[in-house]
Amino acid sequence: MAATDLERFSNEEKRNLSLGGHVGFDSLPDQLVSKSVTQGFSFNILCVGETGIGKSTLMNTLFNTTFETEEASHYESAVRLRPRTYDLQESNVHLKLTIVDAVGFGDQINKDESYRPIVEYIDTQFENYLQEELKIRRSLFDYHDTRIHVCLYFITPTGHSLKSLDLVTMKKLDSKVNIIPIIAKADTISKSELHKFKIKIMSELVSNGVQIYQFPTDDEAVAEINSVMNAHLPFAVVGSTEEVKVGNKLVRARQYPWGVVQVENESHCDFVKLREMLIRVNMEDLREQTHTRHYELYRRCKLEEMGFKDTDPDSQPFSLQETYETKRKEFLGELQRKEEEMRQMFVNKVKETEAELKEKERELHEKFEHLKRIHQEEKRKVEEKRRELEDEMNAFNRRKVAVETLQSQSLQATSQQPLKKDKDKKNFFSLPSAYSITTGRYVN
Ligand code: GTP
Ligand code: MG
Repeated sequence: MAATDLERFSNEEKRNLSLGGHVGFDSLPDQLVSKSVTQGFSFNILCVGETGIGKSTLMNTLFNTTFETEEASHYESAVRLRPRTYDLQESNVHLKLTIVDAVGFGDQINKDESYRPIVEYIDTQFENYLQEELKIRRSLFDYHDTRIHVCLYFITPTGHSLKSLDLVTMKKLDSKVNIIPIIAKADTISKSELHKFKIKIMSELVSNGVQIYQFPTDDEAVAEINSVMNAHLPFAVVGSTEEVKVGNKLVRARQYPWGVVQVENESHCDFVKLREMLIRVNMEDLREQTHTRHYELYRRCKLEEMGFKDTDPDSQPFSLQETYETKRKEFLGELQRKEEEMRQMFVNKVKETEAELKEKERELHEKFEHLKRIHQEEKRKVEEKRRELEDEMNAFNRRKVAVETLQSQSLQATSQQPLKKDKDKKNFFSLPSAYSITTGRYVN
């Protein structure tokens, strides 16, 4: 059935009926509350502000407890996110609270990249949630949602204006998280200066197009208080875990030689306003905004990046199945193209190697032929030499035989005739004693 037919059918079928008696589905809201209470809640706060600005103290003051904290050094080479999760309980409501500290924020000489780890952390939490959502077997019911619901941005109480680092960071974060800017350590700035400072901050945020979280005014029950509180932004807060006796009451305050700053006194600071807005009135809205606005935006961009669309180029509805088929075809086409490319590359490589091998073979052959020629030449020379030597040996032997014959003849003659003169005898017997191969002569 086409979508339009389905719409017409359901419009036609919808009729208002009145009930004859109590049925019981008016208890649905109670069922919802009961289910949520059993399930518990999670709330994740990101604290961004310079080292020592009072982040941990404010968290301790807000939740009236002491969270484990360790002071950050001013020598961090980059901003690092440190999440810590706590299980809190108030009445029968369980809250899984995660406080994420941006450790080392504002401590680097080059602060250009300070926002990046924060953005990456927020995106990673969105990505984890998206991956869980896309699983075939999802377990979102007991999934620990770590998406950041609110970013408390701690502004240094300079009384002047926002630093460029503040503006850049808030601008980078405003589409990803609900930002509530707060002026920290507000007891260090005078009342008139604070008033001007607040106006200045708000005008700078507006002129730089930074979207901060606005307390919702669409729900009648909280519209009035929320619109009043929107006018008080940014809240100027004081934090303290110290208890001081004021009158006959112990209150959380900061004590100075000249007086006491009471954290929960609305004429001293906006701490109570912040707690009311953040925890008592708008906690659920912050969670909802995170899911319906910021996460939705992340999800949409991510899926579009992956090639999923709701409509085709002609603005016609495009189903997931069609997108999948198109993507699959694209992927297979790409795979085939890559395969062909690799095959071609392989063939070329083989051809190249073959040519190289052939060239090497030719070179070797040439070398071999050259060596063979040299060897033959040498062999020929040696052969020649050998022949010469043999000839000389033969000549020598012949002479030797001749000499021996002569010697024996002369010996015979001497034994028959008287001895001749010594001179003649010497000449006759003056025979060579050695034969030189190098000169080819007989030497004495
Ligand atoms: P790191 O985690 O090290 O970055 O510091 P932090 O931002 O958590 O600051 P922390 O809460 O540790 O406070 C640092 C110092 O500031 C402590 O001495 C606090 O007592 C002091 N401090 C905290 N809040 C306030 C405040 O509202 N006013 C004043 N005057 N001092 C404060
Ligand atoms: Mg701290």
